[in-house]
Amino acid sequence: MKKVLITGGAGFIGYHLAKRLAAEGYELVIVDNFFHSAHDDDLQALLAVPNVRLLEDDLTQSRVWEKVGSGFDEVYHLVGINGTKFFYEIPHEVLRIGVSTTLNVLEWFRSENNKPGAKILYTSSNEAYASALEAFGKLPIPTPENVPLVIADTYNPRWSYGGQKLIGELFFIHYAKAYNFRMSIVRPHNFYGPRAGYEHVIPEIVGRVAAKIDPFPIFGADDTRSFCYITDAVEAIQTVMESAHTDGGTYHIGTTHETLIADLAEKIFSLMGWRPQKTDIKNSPEGSVKRRLADVSKIKKDTGWEAKTLLDDGLEKTIEWYLAHPKVPD
Ligand SMILES: NC(=O)c1ccc[n+]([C@@H]2O[C@H](COP(=O)([O-])OP(=O)(O)OC[C@H]3O[C@@H](n4cnc5c(N)ncnc54)[C@H](O)[C@@H]3O)[C@@H](O)[C@H]2O)c1
Repeated sequence: MKKVLITGGAGFIGYHLAKRLAAEGYELVIVDNFFHSAHDDDLQALLAVPNVRLLEDDLTQSRVWEKVGSGFDEVYHLVGINGTKFFYEIPHEVLRIGVSTTLNVLEWFRSENNKPGAKILYTSSNEAYASALEAFGKLPIPTPENVPLVIADTYNPRWSYGGQKLIGELFFIHYAKAYNFRMSIVRPHNFYGPRAGYEHVIPEIVGRVAAKIDPFPIFGADDTRSFCYITDAVEAIQTVMESAHTDGGTYHIGTTHETLIADLAEKIFSLMGWRPQKTDIKNSPEGSVKRRLADVSKIKKDTGWEAKTLLDDGLEKTIEWYLAHPKVPD
């Protein structure tokens, strides 16, 4: 049975990945400090599975890595501060936590006694290249992996997130070369689904529909995103980890289907059976890109993976979960 570590494993992607790997019989260690995740029923059910262990601690602290142990076959490095509001509110923490946990995991991985041929995977982000558009006025869409990583404006706190992902990619590439270990990098593109927190566009729209807010605010209505359902997403992440052809490579994960935010809101109105009398179209936050669409031909070519879930089907499951788990007011 493979032994797997997931850093940030109680968060959105980590939880769904852990659930998938636990169902396949892997021995799992999840580490999380619950900065952005909860000890909820879903997590308790996961922790009830034999061979799943939780270590609740702060991965910026190097002493924690002694408790993590050794003998791993696979390490998924997911920890980080995700959620656009945090990029604007606490950019210094986004940077500190992103960079220090990445350096810590690499130092631990290269020196700890993990299994021969053990592999580590880094979750970067589309935000590492997104500001190329702002800086140079152009970005190929769909966007392939080999575009330059760019920070358009170091004074815009939004790019704290893209900046630490850029640094993280460099660390992974050059540590793996220097210390001769296996690694891959993935860049998720707008994953969605149950248990994704409350700061993303889909849970925000669902929450406002549930509250029947009218006029109904829609932020960045003419922006587009390609939404990838979480079960497809974690299948892709595991495939990149385990495929023979992905070592040393960087992979975009997403769908080829581009959706206008205004159309997304319409779909949610229709799935939830309520529509406001009036919509109130608002600007998206400063630095937000107009179009985001990954070129996912590389992951398909190297592993055969492609997203399967239709947006309507994924939205239906997501809405059902959020209606059963409404946001608790602050
Ligand atoms: N969800 C997406 O669409 C998306 C897109 C691009 C990149 N990513 C990247 O994928 C990774 C996972 O994203 P997610 O959506 O699951 O985010 P998430 O916020 O749900 O999960 C991150 C987890 O890390 C934990 N954490 C934060 N600081 C910690 C610390 N110091 N020590 C231990 N745990 C800590 C949080 O509590 C949280 O559970 C992140 O690195 C994120 O930047 C996600």
